Amino acid sequence: MKKIILASFTFFICSMYGTRTPEYKVDQVFTNRWSSRVFSKEPVLTEELMCLFEAARWAPSSYNSQPWKFVWARNGSNEFTKMFNCLVPFNQDWVKQAPLLVTIISKDTFDHNNEFSRTHSFDTGAAWANFALQASLNGMVAHGMSGFDYDKIKKELSIPNGYTVEAMVAVGKQGKQKDLPSKMKSMEKPSGRKPVSDFVFESTFGK
Ligand SMILES: Cc1cc2nc3c(=O)[nH]c(=O)nc-3n(C[C@H](O)[C@H](O)[C@H](O)COP(=O)(O)O)c2cc1C
Repeated sequence: MKKIILASFTFFICSMYGTRTPEYKVDQVFTNRWSSRVFSKEPVLTEELMCLFEAARWAPSSYNSQPWKFVWARNGSNEFTKMFNCLVPFNQDWVKQAPLLVTIISKDTFDHNNEFSRTHSFDTGAAWANFALQASLNGMVAHGMSGFDYDKIKKELSIPNGYTVEAMVAVGKQGKQKDLPSKMKSMEKPSGRKPVSDFVFESTFGK
C-alpha cells in the first residue's frame, strides 16, 4: 500500500513538473526521449535521417517479417504539402516548422505465405520506437502523431490495399521554445508516466 501511494505521488509530481525520475534504474536513453514541438531551422541531412531508419531496421518482428514502410518528405516539397494537408489544425500549427514529415505504414500480411500477420502493427511500433530513440540520441526530435485523416493520407500517398497507415512523425533538430506558438508553450516539457504497478501484474491481470 505504502509503495502504491509513493508511486502515485511520484506520478502526480512528474506529470505536473515534467521531471523524469525512473522508479527503477534504466538507461537514460529512455527518459531523455520526449516529444518536443519546436524545431531548429538547421536542415537535416539525408544521411542524418537515414541513420534513424537504420535504427528502425533492427527492430524485432514476428518471423523477421519487417512489415514497416516509411514515406518521408522535406518541408517545401509537394509530398510534404500532401502529408501536411492531412494533419488536424492543432498539429499543422507546429508541424509547419518541421523540416521533415514521415508517414509510417505497415504491411498487413507476411511475405513468405501471404497470411494475415496479427503483429504487423506491433512490429512496426517497435521500429518506430527504435527510430524515436535514435533521434533522441542524435539530438533530434521525432514527434509521433495520430492527429490526421487516415483515409485521406492513404489516397494522397497511393498506399495500396493490404497496408495500414499507422502514424505520422514530424522530424527535425531541437529548436528554441520562443519559436513555438504561445498557446503550446505550457505543453512544451517532458511528461511523466503512470507508476509501474499500474500496468505490471504478477500472475493475474489487473491485480
Ligand atoms: C502514435 C502517437 C500519436 C500521437 N499523436 C500526437 C498528435 O497527433 N499530436 C501531438 O501533438 N502529439 C502526439 N503524440 C505525442 C504524445 O502526446 C506523446 O508521445 C505523449 O504525450 C508522451 O510524451 P513524450 O513522447 O514526450 O514522452 C503522439 C504520440 C504517438 C506515439
